[in-house]
Amino acid sequence: MTKSNFFNIVNFFPYLKYRENILEVKEKTVNEIIQEYPTPLFLFIPDRFEQNYKEIKTNLNKFVPNLFVTYAMKANYLGRVLRQTKQLGLGIEIMSFFEILLAEKAGFSYDNFVFNGPAKTAAELEHTIQRGIKYLNVDSLNELKLIEEIAKKKNIQQSITVRIHPQLSENTERRLLIKKNSKLGIDYSRGIKLFEYAKRSTNLNPTGVHIHVGTNIVSHDFYDELLVFVNDYINDLENRKGIQIQEINLGGGLASKSKLDENGFSFEKLGKQINTNIDNIKDKMVIFEPGRYLVEDSFIAITRVLRSKKSWGRKWAFVDIGANSLIPMRYSEYRIIPSHYKGKGQYCNIGGPLCLPVDVITSEAVDFEIEEEDLLVVLNCGAYTLSMSEQFGYPRPAVYELENDGVIKLLKPSDDIDQMVKDSFWSEKT
Ligand SMILES: Cc1ncc(COP(=O)(O)O)c(C=O)c1O
Repeated sequence: MTKSNFFNIVNFFPYLKYRENILEVKEKTVNEIIQEYPTPLFLFIPDRFEQNYKEIKTNLNKFVPNLFVTYAMKANYLGRVLRQTKQLGLGIEIMSFFEILLAEKAGFSYDNFVFNGPAKTAAELEHTIQRGIKYLNVDSLNELKLIEEIAKKKNIQQSITVRIHPQLSENTERRLLIKKNSKLGIDYSRGIKLFEYAKRSTNLNPTGVHIHVGTNIVSHDFYDELLVFVNDYINDLENRKGIQIQEINLGGGLASKSKLDENGFSFEKLGKQINTNIDNIKDKMVIFEPGRYLVEDSFIAITRVLRSKKSWGRKWAFVDIGANSLIPMRYSEYRIIPSHYKGKGQYCNIGGPLCLPVDVITSEAVDFEIEEEDLLVVLNCGAYTLSMSEQFGYPRPAVYELENDGVIKLLKPSDDIDQMVKDSFWSEKT
């Protein structure tokens, strides 16, 4: 990454700015932010989350009159993020009892729940059906039968949505994160059988089609292909099988806002694509369930350089945040920028403190000058980090919020190292 490169990247993050080579996060320098707080730390920028939501909602709504955006909480279920989600009026996508309880605590109503997963427990289904869950996605006959049994006992008719794996071109299929042979979703004809089963049952009501096949999507072409498939599938259900579809859930999978901007992706254009490809769009509800898009670039991490070395012709800097927090997922795109740009340096790889070879924060070497004790900022670290983090020998970092007035508020303390020791010897307590 060259100097001009990372200065360009910052342009896609409206809350970041270099003023005379000193990085400001919403007008506050990184030094000011960490004055009272030890590194490493995560920092939530709530208005970025809000902007991200408004961007998708406002632009899609121009062409998609009935739109429902739900937040996939697995991306980051920090209570503050869930409260913000609820306050903005989004729905919530959940996958487990823990997430059900979090959604309840954040105050979401069951009308706004979307429940996904290939193997929901009877207890999870009973709990959510009892409380009137509206969007229940299914991708197996046995789970459908279990839902029917629960609904029958309660003497209700439960609406269900079938999660299918779309038939796309070989080329697109190859690039998908979730492929035909993955455990998620069901093929075309078995999907139709689930719809038919549900239609025959007095306790089930098949209302929607659900598809989620990717993550970090930046391509309009992908949606063109997907939407043609979805429209044909719906026509098949409606015209041949007499099953009326009310909801089209297009899943999550969008890249972060800053990455979409870098790639020239526009929600207005996506709205037009949906409008032109789906018949009778005004009679259908379109659901999106993004996780990464909403939250990835609304968090940064601040970390300090602990050590540096050269080995085999390579320069390394080691920072105090590791892969136990910045999970090295295939689609993660952590980017590192200096809090103080001191000039061009030798290409340098950045690793965390863990004694593990995978603990490398980004595959891109940086070429700004780095010295021990410098503060660096990690971008794009809000999704699948806090919710997947592990201790692995280190306490997980504290999480703060940068409020609009510049006040910094603690959202979650770092793990207590003494407690970690106690937990390890838990069975010895008397
Ligand atoms: C069913 C479903 N919907 C939505 C999401 C969110 O995906 P993303 O964070 O890529 O938007 C996931 C993520 O695994 C998912 O499994």
